[in-house]
Amino acid sequence: MSSKQQLLNPIRQQEPTPSLTLSRRPRRNRQSAAIRALVRETTLHPCDLVNPLFIVDGCDEEQPIASMPDVSRKSIDRTLQEVEDLYSLGIRAVVIFTKISSDLKDNTGSEALRPNNLMQQAIRTLKKEFPEMCIMTDIALDPFTDHGHDGIVDPEGKILNDKTLEALAEMSLRAAEAGIDIVAPSDMMDGRVAYIRHVLDTNGFTDVGILSYTAKYASAMYGPFRDALGSSLSFGDKKTYQMDPANAREALIEAALDEAEGADFLLVKPALHYLDILARIRQITHLPLAAYHVSGEYAMVMAAAEKGWLDADDVLMETTTAIKRAGADLVFTYAAKRLAKLIYTS
Ligand code: PBG
Repeated sequence: MSSKQQLLNPIRQQEPTPSLTLSRRPRRNRQSAAIRALVRETTLHPCDLVNPLFIVDGCDEEQPIASMPDVSRKSIDRTLQEVEDLYSLGIRAVVIFTKISSDLKDNTGSEALRPNNLMQQAIRTLKKEFPEMCIMTDIALDPFTDHGHDGIVDPEGKILNDKTLEALAEMSLRAAEAGIDIVAPSDMMDGRVAYIRHVLDTNGFTDVGILSYTAKYASAMYGPFRDALGSSLSFGDKKTYQMDPANAREALIEAALDEAEGADFLLVKPALHYLDILARIRQITHLPLAAYHVSGEYAMVMAAAEKGWLDADDVLMETTTAIKRAGADLVFTYAAKRLAKLIYTS
């Protein structure tokens, strides 16, 4: 080494330093893939993942959703093929959303309650073909109302809490009759878990579970989902029912209420901006905790990957692992299939 190089690189000069004794060298546990696997605190399994499905009427239909690469709306027959793929990859849970045509939408979302609507047909068919699969459905009125709100709206534009509960409970009951395993109310009305539980129980559906969207934030991250279902708002916003992103303690109140009302699972949504909420709820409940890595979060990764700026596989693995590490037992993700494949090959 020239003296000039030595001057520029003084640390190199000191290496090795035999006298340096560190009481602990954390890098020892990172030195090989085998050791890293031994000390890994959080692992992902395909059965931790819940795959959302967008269903449309018709036959042999497949409609790609531009803002959600690799995700399509599919007719029930095509959805069956998709569920078969998911099942063969070890994924054991799906959540169903239906997109209905705008002429079926009205002010009260009555199509949500119509016996044998697309939602109930989908549940019946999926349950019949894949009895081992856990089928969940979203319970909220927004894909069915012409204004895109999750609840019943009065003439002044106010979202009516208690009137909405009746509709949500009836929607849950229809899903239960069709064979649903778990209903997932995503509307954020007060008292809906207790109300739905009561209506399910008094109609003999004590085995139908409730996964409550406990801390659902009024987030800017739901845009691509609203594209997928055509459920964009015709007026206002969802801030009188979805939570303020600035609030954490309020999520703990929601979690305590949902648990007391009889929820079987709690869910935080979106996921990545709300890992602190997940971690805090984890500390106050023994219930299974879910997180929803939502459409906008997925779209951000996929858009950057399309530009070659990020590696989608790596980012999605890291993201989903981080969501579990923060406290989630299960993760709703549009990347379920991709992740399951990665889990098997990694
Ligand atoms: C319906 C519902 C929404 C999502 C799940 N259920 C949209 C909303 O509340 O506007 C969003 C999911 C996603 O963005 O992936 N209430």
